[in-house]
Amino acid sequence: MSENLLKGKVGIITGALDENSIAWKTALKVKEQGGKFVLTNAPIAMRMGAIKELAEECNTIVIGADATVVEDIEKLYAEAKEFLGADFDFLLHSIGMSPNIRKGRAYGDLNYDWAMKSYDVSAISFHKMMQVAEKMDVMKDWGSIVGLSYIAAQRIFPFYTDMADAKALLESIARGYGYRFGKLKKVRVNTISQSPTKTTAGTGIGGFDSFYNFAEALSPLGNASADACADYIVSLFSDLTRMVTMQNLFHDGGYSFTGISEEIMDKFKDL
Ligand SMILES: NC(=O)c1ccc[n+]([C@@H]2O[C@H](COP(=O)([O-])OP(=O)(O)OC[C@H]3O[C@@H](n4cnc5c(N)ncnc54)[C@H](O)[C@@H]3O)[C@@H](O)[C@H]2O)c1
Repeated sequence: MSENLLKGKVGIITGALDENSIAWKTALKVKEQGGKFVLTNAPIAMRMGAIKELAEECNTIVIGADATVVEDIEKLYAEAKEFLGADFDFLLHSIGMSPNIRKGRAYGDLNYDWAMKSYDVSAISFHKMMQVAEKMDVMKDWGSIVGLSYIAAQRIFPFYTDMADAKALLESIARGYGYRFGKLKKVRVNTISQSPTKTTAGTGIGGFDSFYNFAEALSPLGNASADACADYIVSLFSDLTRMVTMQNLFHDGGYSFTGISEEIMDKFKDL
């Protein structure tokens, strides 16, 4: 494994809830590669305490911020800049939540207030993080911003309901802001479309085990783990990917381009 890919780089990592979180794994890998960062999560998630242990392990601080609240993001950036002593090279948006999914509402019975909350938390917060970064001018030239998506943005997964629409919006925001930030500061913006992963957000989706196992059987490389996703994020924060922007990058063991696998064919042969 390469070393010090992120030496001298600083940034912000959102979304580390517990040791299964993609953001948690990312924090450890960024540290391993010499990067420095501030951790942040919604105040309610911080009360669970685990993130403070991660902060200790990474010699950093946690700053509470609800990613849907512009003033919270402003405060986060100001305090993080003071702590890190520099503008940011990278931002990780690793945030998702749907009240409709949490409360088991079907796609034909959405509570629209909750749907707005899903879009705000899971997608518009990505725009907010970038708009505030632009207005406060806290991104360094050639910085890198990454959000996390899922293939339900392109294909139907019935139990993903309003999160599918949120992910489509998230990917669109990556293109829109990628263009803008590229022109302004050579900052790149991408989303990673990750395999189903056993985290709090992932396993909260109805039928998660079935589509996790299905994806495992379909993908030639199997499902990509949270650890592997963290490696990919590190590569996108590094200088090795400076010309990659406005992309939705599938990190899924080949799932997105596989029609059928022998394993799936076997399961259907005697029907
Ligand atoms: N787990 C999967 O199967 C999977 C697959 C593809 C993409 N993703 C995406 O990866 C990202 C990270 O999720 P994860 O799987 O690591 O799960 P996770 O539950 O560990 O992380 C989700 C995080 O979002 C945070 N969050 C929720 N509301 C917030 C708010 N208002 N402000 C700030 N933070 C808030 C939570 O506190 C939590 O830390 C999400 O965008 C998710 O949709 C997950």
